[in-house]
Amino acid sequence: MSATAGWPKIGLEDDPSDLLRKASRGAKLDPNALGRRTGIEPAAISAWLKGDGVPTEDQARSLAGVLSIDPGKFADAAARRWYPGAELPPYVRHHPHDPHPSNGYLFFLEDGKTAALVDPAGYPKTLLNAVNEGPYALRYILITHKHADHCDATADVARAFPKAEIVMHRADVKAIGDLGKRAIPVADGDELPFGDEAAIRMLHTPGHTDGSSCFLFRSTVFSGDTLFAGSVGGIFADVSTYEDLLASVSLKLFSLDDDTVVMPGHGPPTTIGQEKAHNPFF
Ligand SMILES: [Fe+2]
Repeated sequence: MSATAGWPKIGLEDDPSDLLRKASRGAKLDPNALGRRTGIEPAAISAWLKGDGVPTEDQARSLAGVLSIDPGKFADAAARRWYPGAELPPYVRHHPHDPHPSNGYLFFLEDGKTAALVDPAGYPKTLLNAVNEGPYALRYILITHKHADHCDATADVARAFPKAEIVMHRADVKAIGDLGKRAIPVADGDELPFGDEAAIRMLHTPGHTDGSSCFLFRSTVFSGDTLFAGSVGGIFADVSTYEDLLASVSLKLFSLDDDTVVMPGHGPPTTIGQEKAHNPFF
């Protein structure tokens, strides 16, 4: 696949240096330790971590072996040989979160009006313009996690749509202050009714943060900062670990159908099948 319909052409969220940094942190190996185990000069590894150059095919495979990531997929990423292709489903709309570099989404029922918002963030005026364009009846405000670039406009949206229900995992809910009291206390696997026959399923995917959540609607999963095209989120949790993040993706997201479209919190959309085939962390 190549072109991504309904989507501006944007780069992958993580470049080879980001992948190397996340995998090194996860494996708790610094450039000296990696150098000892691979025979690669630590200064070269330090430079790659800063985005100065990239490893060759053989070096990438050697590093991946030590870092417990996939050698072939990491070598492809280092050589920038892969870009995802996924179509924005007709019931999903994307909007940027200016001034943040994150993605916001609205999705709808067939009536084209009943809507759910994924991650209320960015300039409130811009966001409310996007939500009011319909005009939509906003049923849910779904929050993937506690970081400001995903929830700093919650109060503004909640004020504009007082009937909308806020959905956020309790482990992250402090980030929205008093509005946390209004949030539906969801747990892994909970289904939120949406329309007569549809439901939104909440998947608790700890790792990036303790309360990180993904939301599945029909054949689309909104993955927040848990899963990006070709990468995963960094670890900013109090108790969850890198291993927890990898398990969240392997067990809860990779068990979805391969053609499930992944709408991430940053970077371009992808599919579960493409991530299984190309994401170096799996
Ligand atoms: Fe985040």
